[in-house]
Amino acid sequence: QLKRFYKKVKSLKIGLRINPKVSYSNYDLADPARKFSRLGVIDKKSISSIIDLISGAMFHFNCENDNFLNFSSNLDYISNQYKDILEKLEWVSLGGGIYFTKENYPVDDFWKKIKELSKKFNVQVYLEPGEAVITNTTELVTKILDIVHNEIDIAIVDASTEAHMLDLLIYRTPAKIYPNKGKYKYIIAGRSCLAGDVFGIYNFDKKLKVGMTIRIQDAGGYTIVKKNWFNGLNMPSIAVKKLDGTIKLIKSFNYKDYLNNLS
Ligand SMILES: Cc1ncc(COP(=O)(O)O)c(C=O)c1O
Repeated sequence: QLKRFYKKVKSLKIGLRINPKVSYSNYDLADPARKFSRLGVIDKKSISSIIDLISGAMFHFNCENDNFLNFSSNLDYISNQYKDILEKLEWVSLGGGIYFTKENYPVDDFWKKIKELSKKFNVQVYLEPGEAVITNTTELVTKILDIVHNEIDIAIVDASTEAHMLDLLIYRTPAKIYPNKGKYKYIIAGRSCLAGDVFGIYNFDKKLKVGMTIRIQDAGGYTIVKKNWFNGLNMPSIAVKKLDGTIKLIKSFNYKDYLNNLS
């Protein structure tokens, strides 16, 4: 691909994605070095043969990695394995998937490690943080539409896992709803026709009622790009809460948007 398109892009700084065959991810679906992964070049000889065409390389080898020691040892491995290549590059991107904003993450050690790499090979090091940046920044705010009972109380909200927080279904993880304390237990469920459209089971300190607000955490990033028109449910409006508490509506959707998105 690089050779095929090189003439068209040669005036630009070109980087190559490399698959170092080491990675960290708790989800096979998101593991960049999973078996048979198509993400990145593996064959070192072929990288050496085109080294003059590129100025940098990208190693995206983590997903939600909150384990600094693991990151550090994988980086050492990459530095050793790709020494000859790194010595010839101007820049290296370590991709995303490093959870350096997590509470108690040893950020100082992390920066030190990155500086070491930068100095050792005289390269500019880039990171591409996605989730590390948006975690704890964005909530899906919705209202309870109905409460039904099937052995357990079930509050149905004006939102849907499948339409609005698809990652929960894909990775089979419950939504984060806090503080999740109290003696009243409810399933919080979506309003689509999908039987498994369930955000999770949570505890509340008072009985829930129709019209109450439910706030679902971590609805930034992948949630926003994956929302869809399943069941014709309206997409959530996007609003920004400013530091002074005021809320600015950035975007809202309507029936016309839905129609325009159908074939
Ligand atoms: C090349 C690349 N960079 C950055 C990211 C962002 O990752 P994350 O949101 O896990 O930090 C991804 C996600 O898959 C990616 O593929």
